[in-house]
Amino acid sequence: MLCLRRGKRAKRRSELSLMRIGVLASGRGSNLQALIEAWKLGELNGELVAVGSDHEEALALKRAEEAGIPHGAFPLSRFSSRQEQEKAILTWLREQKVEILVLAGFMRVLSKEFLQDIQIPVLNIHPSLLPSFQGLHAQRQALDYGVKISGCTVHFVDEGLDSGPIIAQEAVPVLPGDTEDSLSARILEAEHRLYPEAVGWVAGGRIKRNGRIVVKL
Ligand code: GAR
Repeated sequence: MLCLRRGKRAKRRSELSLMRIGVLASGRGSNLQALIEAWKLGELNGELVAVGSDHEEALALKRAEEAGIPHGAFPLSRFSSRQEQEKAILTWLREQKVEILVLAGFMRVLSKEFLQDIQIPVLNIHPSLLPSFQGLHAQRQALDYGVKISGCTVHFVDEGLDSGPIIAQEAVPVLPGDTEDSLSARILEAEHRLYPEAVGWVAGGRIKRNGRIVVKL
């Protein structure tokens, strides 16, 4: 059983210093902004110490700049391969001494090697109630399937696609006449509530994990 609640020694440490949280985001960064706001209110049990992106022009990087968080762009065009790009991201996260990695709209699937090497918890948020509608365009998939309830899921990242152990979920209704945009906006509001809360649980050592089963302590 892997227990993410930290022991007495680590607990004493957490009283002195907060968990160092890094974020990877590819675009708009509204979830990053929700994390920044929770952090500023002291609700994250951690501090945001690094924001990386695979897109130089990502709004997420501007949000990090405004919040005074060290940030870096790692566009694929600067590297000879995806492997080299991931190596650079990993090296930089280590330099920033990141202890939890949070994916917030990071639209790349991280390789098995990256996930094995990083050796810290990696979290993701996905805009559906997993395991339904994994992968891209989850809101479109939900509408096309005709479900009446959708939502968002925060999960640990494993080597599969949106398949890691589930930490938290929030449901939202799918309403008659919903479009991809209207459903996405409703789910996004839930994401902005759920992600800072779930990251705070992990950063605060309030999560126990036994295989696929994640329990909030
Ligand atoms: C969010 O809806 C997030 O759940 C989704 O991308 C959006 C990013 O928005 N992520 C995925 O689909 C990952 N599979 P944001 O950049 O405004 O946070």
